[in-house]
Amino acid sequence: MARDGAQYACQACGAVHAKWSGQCAACGAWNTLAEEGGSRPPGALAPSRRSKARGLTFEGLDARTPSPARIATGVGEFDRVCGGGVVPGSAILLAGDPGVGKSTLLLQVCAQAARRGAACAYISGEEAVEQIRARAHRLGLADAAVKLAAETALREIVEALKREAFDLVVIDSVQTLWSDAHEAGPGSVTQVRACAGELVRLAKARGVAVILVGHVTKDGQIAGPRVVEHMVDAVLAFEGERGYPFRILRGAKNRFGATDEIGVFEMGDGGLAEVKNPSALFLNEGGARAAGAAVFAGIEGSRPVLVEFQALVAPSVYGTPRRAVVGWDTGRLAMVMAVLEARCGLGFATRDVYLNVAGGLRISEPAADLAAAAALASSALDAALPQDCVVFGEISLSGDIRPVSRMDARLKESAKLGFARALAPGSTSGSDGGAQGVALTGVTRLAEAVARIGDVSWT
Ligand code: TYD
Ligand code: MG
Repeated sequence: MARDGAQYACQACGAVHAKWSGQCAACGAWNTLAEEGGSRPPGALAPSRRSKARGLTFEGLDARTPSPARIATGVGEFDRVCGGGVVPGSAILLAGDPGVGKSTLLLQVCAQAARRGAACAYISGEEAVEQIRARAHRLGLADAAVKLAAETALREIVEALKREAFDLVVIDSVQTLWSDAHEAGPGSVTQVRACAGELVRLAKARGVAVILVGHVTKDGQIAGPRVVEHMVDAVLAFEGERGYPFRILRGAKNRFGATDEIGVFEMGDGGLAEVKNPSALFLNEGGARAAGAAVFAGIEGSRPVLVEFQALVAPSVYGTPRRAVVGWDTGRLAMVMAVLEARCGLGFATRDVYLNVAGGLRISEPAADLAAAAALASSALDAALPQDCVVFGEISLSGDIRPVSRMDARLKESAKLGFARALAPGSTSGSDGGAQGVALTGVTRLAEAVARIGDVSWT
């Protein structure tokens, strides 16, 4: 029998059960339930002690409290994704695969912020102080007044942060922390949740901004950053495609700013360099555009970004045709291919289809539909798109091309990078004076766009 109010959390998936059992009913893992929390059910209050209640006071929406100045760390791309600097007293989770560059990024952030006068601490549970120092030397950051420590015991960290006042503290990583209030091992759901909760409370109470590093893990052994996502004010995902030097910082949740903002970095010998103009980076420079390539004029966050979609449609050698996608959604590819088959007469049943977004960027905008379709049609028809043409537009199941947001910004960026035409939603064609000097080829149906691509006289 479960003791009154005791609860048991699965260390593999985080599910909470009222009773202990050998197997977690939610994920099926064995021997993963561990007792957690106090002796009361979640949400229940302790028996009221009248003398302690302060009495709740309500406030109006119009009350003005001056918001404290944000800490501009000096790493511009990082600050922008945070919504214009780090908010004092906020908790940020930086999540990413092991080896993507989280420690490097945060060491740079700490060092730059320290150079601008912020009191910064970098506490690592993964590396020795000498290792971090050696890295700082290599990155040319040795002069920055960052306080380093290697520690995994939560109690020590909390004591130190209460003793000394910091503006910004990095904890690398939350999975190595260990609180002596719980029996579960470091990295377990119980520990990760307890340690993150304690640090978030500390951040709020003392007005220090805390950045927690969380490794994304595939196996259930170690708790992933998901279990702390709801506790923190902002979740930033640091992503990179294997084999590419580019790293993308993406806001997944942000109580103090927009979430669709991205920051672009390039990993090199000197650490992470900010990429101020990502478009130039994601385009394949030089030479004529091959069949199967289409340049998409996209919007990432507040910025327009041009990126090349590359498709290869080839006869299938084996029985089941292959479909492989990098940087785009597989389901979306299936949808676009189905519309191309049904509405435009392009067959893919006996052909392998490969689709790749150049440079390791991940595109999730619906406006990319037409760019993907154009790349596929271009490869299938073996007809290259004009060198100076960008493509964007959303495709509906009926084969219509739907208008997309921020057309002007897309065209402006295209013009800036030397593109002179756009295959885009609309019924107007020819040179459009208002369109930033980019000649619009408006299409309302996908079939029109495919016919246009197949038409040799277009280029
Ligand atoms: P790291 O920041 O340790 O990753 P994480 O903390 O996310 O696990 O960086 C790991 C990789 O970055 C490592 O494989 C080497 C590479 N790297 C560079 O290419 N250049 C550099 O200047 C640094 C510091 C790292
Ligand atoms: Mg690391």
